[in-house]
Amino acid sequence: MKGAAITEKGLLELLDGFIKTKVLIGAYHLDLFTRCAEPRPRAALLAELGAPERAATILVNACVALGLLVEEEGRLATPPSIAPFLVRGGERPFRTTTYLLDYYDEVYRALVDFESLVESDGASSTFKLRDYFKDDVSEVKPEVAAEYSTYMEATMGKIVEVVLGAFSFAGHRRLLDLCGNTGTFCAAVVAATPGLEGAFLDVPACVAIGEAELGERPELAGRVRGIAGDLFAPTLPEGFDVITMCRSAMDWGDERMGPIYAKIREALPAGGRFLIIERMLPEEVLPEALSLYLRSVYFLAKSQTTRYRTPSQHVALLRQAGFTEIEVIEPPRAPYELFQSMKIIAATRT
Ligand SMILES: C[S@@+](CC[C@H](N)C(=O)[O-])C[C@H]1O[C@@H](n2cnc3c(N)ncnc32)[C@H](O)[C@@H]1O
Repeated sequence: MKGAAITEKGLLELLDGFIKTKVLIGAYHLDLFTRCAEPRPRAALLAELGAPERAATILVNACVALGLLVEEEGRLATPPSIAPFLVRGGERPFRTTTYLLDYYDEVYRALVDFESLVESDGASSTFKLRDYFKDDVSEVKPEVAAEYSTYMEATMGKIVEVVLGAFSFAGHRRLLDLCGNTGTFCAAVVAATPGLEGAFLDVPACVAIGEAELGERPELAGRVRGIAGDLFAPTLPEGFDVITMCRSAMDWGDERMGPIYAKIREALPAGGRFLIIERMLPEEVLPEALSLYLRSVYFLAKSQTTRYRTPSQHVALLRQAGFTEIEVIEPPRAPYELFQSMKIIAATRT
């Protein structure tokens, strides 16, 4: 048997999980953390919240007990360790943790009727971004693409760093990043690899954002371009000797990804490489990979097809697509806390 069975105490802790999350998100939305950016007398804070005293006290006490606020001599303060994520105001850099507070708020709403989500394989989801994936890629609206891309752009720098440390693009001349969003990955790899040119293919709304951003990077002029397209179009652009898919293959089921892997192989020259870069499940369920399994639950709200695969599931699909030389690369570290278990699978067209 893998993993230790949970105890009754553990069960009760699980039941508390949702309440803890609600306290964090609710207190954030009620601006408790900004109000306590400087130490604030408890009575003043309770009065200022405008909620009945009982409710305000319950919330504030829970925050203190969870360590979200600290209390000293009747004054409440947001701990400096978490203030950068929770205190609003001023010109603050984009922080993924802050972004996720609102994101998860919406995810949790979509998970309320969880049994229906499971029974309908995600079809009953009310999650806003569920609607992002369109059969006609030109239907993706610019504002939706911009919101969807903010998080991905912000986290990409750390992913590229780890990928470049684990795989050398030096032997290649032309990179095509499929589902390349606004081109952040492509631009970073090209910038780090002398002699490499690159293109990123994504839905038109994302490519438009990427091209505007590229306009502000004259050092990459002529070396990186966007291709507004559809991964599922009958053919892929030709002339690229390394093709990548980062955080994207997981978005579709085997019946759609299998043919894409075959199309990628056809588009590559002999010696050309295809890289799948994403979080992957362990070959058997491991409790230490809990974050992957919980993130997978969120996929029930996100779409009807998104799922993490194990390396051997990717490898099997690649073999069916005709690849015979396949290497699973284990990077030495995770790019960032929320992105554990990233792997790179490199398949060579022989
Ligand atoms: C999860 S994001 C990953 C983006 C990027 N590779 C990264 O790691 O940040 C998936 C990307 O696939 C793009 N996408 C969705 N459907 C597509 C399609 N049919 N053709 C091309 N790109 C598509 C989305 O616009 C989005 O940029």
